[in-house]
Amino acid sequence: MTIRVTKAIFPVAGLGTRFLPATKSIPKEILTLIDRPLIQYAIDEARAAGIEEFIFVTSRGKSALEDYFDYSPELENSLRKKGRAGLLQMLKSTNMESGTIAYLRQHSALGLGHAVWCARRLIANEPFAVILPDDVIEARPPCLQQMVEAYAKTGGNMVATMEVPTEKTSNYGILDVGKDMGSLLSVKGMVEKPPIDEAPSNHAVIGRYILGPNIMKNLDSTDPGADEEMQLTDAIVKEIEVSNNVYGFRFRGQRFDCGSKAGFLQATVAFGLSRDDLRDEFEDYLDKAMAMQKVARRASGWG
Ligand code: G1P
Repeated sequence: MTIRVTKAIFPVAGLGTRFLPATKSIPKEILTLIDRPLIQYAIDEARAAGIEEFIFVTSRGKSALEDYFDYSPELENSLRKKGRAGLLQMLKSTNMESGTIAYLRQHSALGLGHAVWCARRLIANEPFAVILPDDVIEARPPCLQQMVEAYAKTGGNMVATMEVPTEKTSNYGILDVGKDMGSLLSVKGMVEKPPIDEAPSNHAVIGRYILGPNIMKNLDSTDPGADEEMQLTDAIVKEIEVSNNVYGFRFRGQRFDCGSKAGFLQATVAFGLSRDDLRDEFEDYLDKAMAMQKVARRASGWG
């Protein structure tokens, strides 16, 4: 019997330099995909997976995140008075019940492993999930829910994985795969951001993890690794070495790298096209925009 996973860590301390100047005053997790901040997608996914305690590892300049999850009585009152029941309902669905959400500060940017380690006292001796909000995953059921269901059978530790082109392997944690069991892969090693010619496979770690409390213990003694940062990958490797109970999970769904501008744009298009209230107008616009783009390319001799 595996213990139910009810706690999730959201590392949200990053500076978001790739989205400057927007992120000069707004945390990148508040950037909106259509009409919801990135962090809301992560929270909804966690809730769907049965998470009850939400731990945010933040840094200076992230107070907008705390405000976002707070109640907004003036706004709610005004919507109530105006009879805007739909909007009111939607707004309330973003409220987090008192006591279910915790904020911790990571005082120096020492890496993902360090950010996760900052939550060690709140995790104590339980398994926990980690969600990286930059990785937005469109999936039904949502990715973490798929993982929780698989984890109920495997126990141990699990990372979401997908195959990436070889030239991109140096951007990810890469799995050394043992046995391929379909949606599950047994993992016999992992390397954080290996040089392309040293990547053990094309199976990249995507930002969803279910980890046992041992990982926190491993982080206690994890030295800085790739990019001189304390890497979560390295703490998971220690677990593989002693207990060989780490699995890669091939989720069913589409992942967008919203930590990059191109990925954010792609997510915006995909989510726009999947929305009943926007699809027709947006599709029409995209068709016209693509046709005009082709004409302009031809006229300028680009092809
Ligand atoms: C982090 C992890 C890496 C993983 C990636 C997924 O890297 O360290 O192992 O593959 O997220 O998005 P980051 O992109 O934060 O540098």
